[in-house]
Parts: sequence; C-alpha cells; structure tokens
Amino acid sequence: MTSSPIIKQSDLISPDAPWWQSTVGYQIYPASFCDSNGDGIGDIVGIISKLDYLADLGIGFIWLSPVYASPMVDNGYDISDYFAINPMFGTMADMERLIAEAAKRRIGIVMDLVVNHTSNQHAWFKAAQSDRNSQYRDYYIWRDEPPVKGSDADITATFGSSAWSRCAESNELYFHLFAPEQPDLNWTNPTLRSEVYKMMNWWLDKGIAGFRMDVIDLIGKQPELGIITDGPDLHRFLQEMYEATLAGRDAVTVGEAWSATVSTAPLYCAPQRRELSMVFQFAHVTQFWDERLGKWKPKAIDWPLLKSTFAAWQNALHGKGWNSLFWGNHDLPRAVSRYGDEGEHRIGSAKALATVLHMMEGTPFIYQGEEIGMTNAAFTRIDQYRDVETLNFHRIQRMEGVAEEDFLAGARANSRDNARTPMQWSASAQAGFTDAKPWIPVNKNHTQINVEKDRSDPNGVFQHYSRLISIRRENAVVRHGDFQLFLADHPNLFAYQRRLGTSVLLIVANMSSHLVSIPPSEMPQITGRDLITGRTASSAVGTTLQPYESFVLSFSSGQN
Ligand code: GLC
Ligand code: CA
Repeated sequence: MTSSPIIKQSDLISPDAPWWQSTVGYQIYPASFCDSNGDGIGDIVGIISKLDYLADLGIGFIWLSPVYASPMVDNGYDISDYFAINPMFGTMADMERLIAEAAKRRIGIVMDLVVNHTSNQHAWFKAAQSDRNSQYRDYYIWRDEPPVKGSDADITATFGSSAWSRCAESNELYFHLFAPEQPDLNWTNPTLRSEVYKMMNWWLDKGIAGFRMDVIDLIGKQPELGIITDGPDLHRFLQEMYEATLAGRDAVTVGEAWSATVSTAPLYCAPQRRELSMVFQFAHVTQFWDERLGKWKPKAIDWPLLKSTFAAWQNALHGKGWNSLFWGNHDLPRAVSRYGDEGEHRIGSAKALATVLHMMEGTPFIYQGEEIGMTNAAFTRIDQYRDVETLNFHRIQRMEGVAEEDFLAGARANSRDNARTPMQWSASAQAGFTDAKPWIPVNKNHTQINVEKDRSDPNGVFQHYSRLISIRRENAVVRHGDFQLFLADHPNLFAYQRRLGTSVLLIVANMSSHLVSIPPSEMPQITGRDLITGRTASSAVGTTLQPYESFVLSFSSGQN
C-alpha cells in the first residue's frame, strides 16, 4: 500500500536532520533469517534474496547481527577474525554483494561491532595466552590469583559463574564478562584501540552504513575496582573512536547500553559530544524482571509504569539527543508474547504495539518476524534450546534447587531463543526457511503465522508496519515533534500527542483484550481519518475502543 506524499510546511522544518532520523532499522539474525544452500543455517545469500521484501516493508537500513568468523559459542558474538566472514554465512564477496544490492534499494547495512571482547580463538588471545611477553598480552585483562570473595574484583559474568577463568596455558586468570570463550579486551591499551579503529574504517570504507555497538557501555571497565559500566574512560574512548573513524562520515551508530538511564544517555548521544547517534536502553525491559532471579522470573507488564518510562525517555532526549525505539531483538522475547496477546488478539496486539512505538520520537528498530507478529518459541524441553545463556542458567539454577518446570517456565517467557527460531516465510515444511533440518526448531505455528499469509491480508501486521514507516517519512511531526502523555494512570489506554509547530498527531491505543471507553481527560477530542487505515476514528470522551484498537489522528492546533 502506498500513499500519496503530502508535503506539509512542517516537513521543511529540519531539512538538515541526519538520514537515520527519518527511517527505520530492521534487525537480521543471520542464522535464522533465510537459508539459501540447504544446510539448515541462514546465510548472506539468503538475506540478498529477501532484500525486495525488506524494500517493500520500507526500511532504511539493516542491523546485521555478527557474520564474522567465529566459533559460534555465542552465535557470532565471539569473533575470531574481524576481517573475515564465517563460511557458514558465506564469503566476503557475498558480503560485498549484500552491501551493493542493499544500496540499490536504498538500504544501508549496519554491522554489529563486538569489541568489548573477542573469541578465545582470536589470534590476539591465542598469542596472549601462550606467551606472557607477547605484544598482545596487554590486549586482555589478567590476574594471578582468583579475587577474594566479596572483594571489588569478585565479579560474576553475565552468563553465570565467575568473570575470572583460569587459562590452561599460562596458568593465570583472564577476565570475561560473558562466556569464558569471550575474553574481555583491555581498552586502556592504546594499541588495541587503534587496531579497533583501523578495523572500523576498513568496514566503513567498504560502504557500510554504520555500526551497532555490542555492550559498548562496558568498554570503560576497571575490574580491579569493581567498575563495569560507566567507567571513568568510557566517554573518552567513544570520543576518540568518533574522531578516528566516524568524523566526516554519514554513518549511524547505536550503542547497546543496558546501564543507560535518562541522565547518562545524553552523554552518549548528544550531538555536540561527538560519540554515538543513539543508544539502545532497556528500562522498558528490565523494569519487569525479578529483583533476584532477573529475566528468569519475569513480572507482569504494568502499563502505567511502562508508559511513564517511555514518556520519561521521550522527554529527556527531546532536543538533547536521540532515542532508539524497539520492543524486541535477538536477546529478548517476541514483542506480542511479552507485551501483547499471542492468542486471540495476536494480530491486533502486534499492530497496537507497533503503533504506539513507531509514532514516538526516535529511530524504530524492527526485529525480524515482528512485522508479521511472530511469537515466542514455545519450547517445552531443555534440549530444544541452543542459547549459551539459557543452557548455563539451566545448569546453575538446577544446582541451586530450582525445579525443572520452574526454569522452563522462565525460559519460555524470556530465553533468548524465543526470538531466534527461524523466520516464518510460508506454511510449508520448515516455514520456507530451509529445505534441511534447521539448526534450531521452527515454531510449530508457522502454518498459521507466516509472511505469505500475513501479506495477503490487507489488515495484516506487515501492511500496518509499512504504513507506519511511510507515516514517519512523510510527517516531520513524527520525527521531531514534542511528546505529551495523556491518561497516564489508565491501565489500558496508551494515548499521547506529538506536536511540531501547528502540526499535531494524536495516538490512541487500547492495550488490552477488552473494550475500553475513553474517559474524560486533557486529551483533545478529535474525530477524523486514521492515518494508518484511512478509516474514521475518534478520541472523543465515551468512544469505545475495540481490543487492541489503535489509531493516529492528525490535526492542526492553531497555536505555535
Ligand atoms: C550483547 C548481545 C548478546 C551477546 C552479548 C555478548 O548483549 O546482544 O547477544 O550475547 O552482547 O556479546
Ligand atoms: Ca545456509
């Protein structure tokens, strides 16, 4: 569905805004997207074959999860050679063709930059571990003895167990914030930093559109002092990186920063600081985790709390930095399963979630399959899981006495594998993802939920996403308007306004599976054409919204 471009006065307000503020990113998890050669693993040629699909959706760039050489302990987030492509995904020639073919469709390729750590199979680490005098020794972080229990350096790795592992060859301990096969790099070493910048420039010179920076808030760590995030040198390194690689280029950068708050985020993304375009922050995710068991014991979504979190981020970064907007990624559960209704109202809730997110200020990211409302994996046995984190925590929690079914319930809600099952292209065997046995099981519901079926439905999820993307492109108020939340305490209605000059958008959504009628509030009462569907909609008091109904009304406010 295309709509005629309406040029409004307000569209001319920010002609100099960077390209990544008016478009939408799409994350591809390569192993699970499209298998072109029948080995059960997605690959780069498979991605190329789906570029027209992505162009139809209307995205402006792809964030490609790692395709570099890797032993795949953490599915590519353990890189053994930054200048090589994992043969499982293809060749460097395939990669160059992907960049070129995407460019023809005006789609940029954003590479994943994983430089908090390497694989333990990286040449640097191999040299470092076998020779204390190696020039690469200081690229990593070492210790002679395990830290005293409870001391500053006594740190637990994200995937469980101590962050210090004994290296068999040198009999010392090295530091790793993730799996033992992912030794952390020592960013205080200037030679290491310049090697990283050289590598970044090598990729940028190939014509990529930018980087998504893996756990970038950790590179300033000082393990001996117990400092992991927000280390004293973090922003100095990012500024140095900017000057050495990004300055003078038109690239987009988004840093993954689990620690970012409304007060620290501007340090990364305020333009005058010359660091990053934006960060991925996770307040809307982690606020619904258990204090002790974390993601393995998720809490129910509390919409008033969730709305206030979004409002806080919208307001904190407006005019000061830039937000990223996302519901899911390869580490998180599927959006409809977590925030919506994966049953009766799957399509409606997928659309309502898209509406409320995409009409905010920031750059939205769609995670593969979200645009057709894919759901969690629904695995019932531990042997269906592949994720290193899930398997580690299974072992640890079982040792700590957590019952198998309790662990599985947590994993069913929040395991990273929920988002890693193959993309569902069609109702055919293996969802049209592969002809072979896929590396991870296909979700059984692919017979009902798949691209072919969704796209043949004019009221499907895909059409809805594609409309939202056009609305962003065509309306400066979506890109740059200010934000005001209405009905903040309402348990089901998510309503807000965006305003730029006299141009106003009103977004209203019922985030529940029952009928909701609009109560009196400060919200303007407008009746008009929903920008998404073209149908009539109204925000007047007393209007009843269907389960997960959402709409966008546009009007002019007179006052400036
Ligand atoms: C990030 C990635 C995740 C990975 C971790 C270590 O959080 O998104 O998938 O396991 O970093 O690289
Ligand atoms: Ca393959």
